Amino acid sequence: MPDCFEILHKDLAGRIGKLSTAHGIVETPALMPVVNPHLQLISPPELRDLGATMLITNSYIIRQDEALRVQALEKGLHNLLDFQGPIMTDSGAFQLSVYGNIDVLPLEILAFQFAIQSDICVPLDIPTPPDVTRERAASELKETERRLEEALKNKGASLLAGPIQGSTYPDLREAAAHFLRDKGFDVYPVGGVVPLMETYRFSDLVDIVAAAKKGLGSGAPVHLFGAGHPMVFALAAAMGCDLFDSAAYALYAREGRYLTSRGTWRLEEMRYLPCSCPVCQDHDQEELMNSPERVKLLAKHNLYISLQEINLVKQCIREGSLWELLETRCRSHPRMLDGFRKLGEKSQWLEGLDTTSKSTLFYLSSESASRPEVVRYSSRIERLTLSGDILITDDTKTSADGFDTVLHFKPPFGPYPAELAETYPFNAEVPAKADLSSMERALLNTKRLIDANPSARFSLRIKGLTPGGEYDQIL
Ligand code: GUN
Ligand code: ZN
Repeated sequence: MPDCFEILHKDLAGRIGKLSTAHGIVETPALMPVVNPHLQLISPPELRDLGATMLITNSYIIRQDEALRVQALEKGLHNLLDFQGPIMTDSGAFQLSVYGNIDVLPLEILAFQFAIQSDICVPLDIPTPPDVTRERAASELKETERRLEEALKNKGASLLAGPIQGSTYPDLREAAAHFLRDKGFDVYPVGGVVPLMETYRFSDLVDIVAAAKKGLGSGAPVHLFGAGHPMVFALAAAMGCDLFDSAAYALYAREGRYLTSRGTWRLEEMRYLPCSCPVCQDHDQEELMNSPERVKLLAKHNLYISLQEINLVKQCIREGSLWELLETRCRSHPRMLDGFRKLGEKSQWLEGLDTTSKSTLFYLSSESASRPEVVRYSSRIERLTLSGDILITDDTKTSADGFDTVLHFKPPFGPYPAELAETYPFNAEVPAKADLSSMERALLNTKRLIDANPSARFSLRIKGLTPGGEYDQIL
């Protein structure tokens, strides 16, 4: 695994890490604002003052502009942009995917990125769009892989990215990631996903990113190309994405759109500004609408809110409450909920990565029934060996008289040894009335436990769990 990356804290597949570059160390997850060398709505020094720790720009645009190219080669990328922190450069691959062809050879644009001392260089991959034929996805992937191997042989002093393509074929994504793993790349962008995010296909996004992560293993830093809306940061980070790039802060501002972590508003349709960043403190909606600086101010707000969300994601990883954040964020849009549920289906995978102990688990919706902690307990409950008379009860004050063992019952876990009541995850805060998913999972676990201990005699005392009771339909 790349030695430029160190993982400090983990939650789900997400992590707080340290990425070391020639221009310093950045803590991840990190958001790289996109700098367009031609139209700098917010200058790089201003971006730094707003809290950006790392930038991304496009080496193809610089190289195509005679004046910029000469300056970049003479004084280096960092002096050109007046930013001394880490800067990643893209290769023009995205222009390739939008315009069909570009005017530079793969090795030329790679050599140019090394020459201008970019901190992370991206070879010219082929961003295959979603839903193309499998033949096309596979053959473009082959060409991307050829270029990546060629790039490795021509590696300079900077870090080198190995983009993972494969369209909407998870098996191709996993194979692509597996092919690149251990080859010597430093950062792994998941590419070709902008069209998915633009059309809110978060369920497909989860399939693709999870497949890439599985092929790659958990130790390498991953960049999600084109993920710039704060609404997706928590979900993407939970899957183990470490770097995001935002052109959205500026693009949305130009269209008069105000970003929030729950979605986007059109500024003209707003009445209040539900944010306390300096822009929203200094202006009300009308002032912002009518300001000659409107686009720039809106871009600043958009960036503030995006960087704030990154910090929230980091705090939640640190605390072990990223799932709880997802519960909230993924209720901003039904397609986000689809993505979250898709992630819930991958709990087995998350369970293998997740740290085992963290802050008290909060059961917030039926999605919590597929949390990795719950899945983990389900897979281990059969290890409890019991004999004699066993009472399973949800009344924690009940007397043990006449029983050899008392197990407490708490959905979604089901039965667990009473002496573990104060330990994670059984100390979970759960609603007074369990929903059906939670009770179903708890009963499934109960059945497993009973089946695994055929010689023990079980008695169940659980509210609502009687014929005609609240949970009659799942009995
Ligand atoms: N920007 C957005 N998507 C992509 C991608 O797939 N590859 C590269 N190189 N840049 C991108
Ligand atoms: Zn604001």
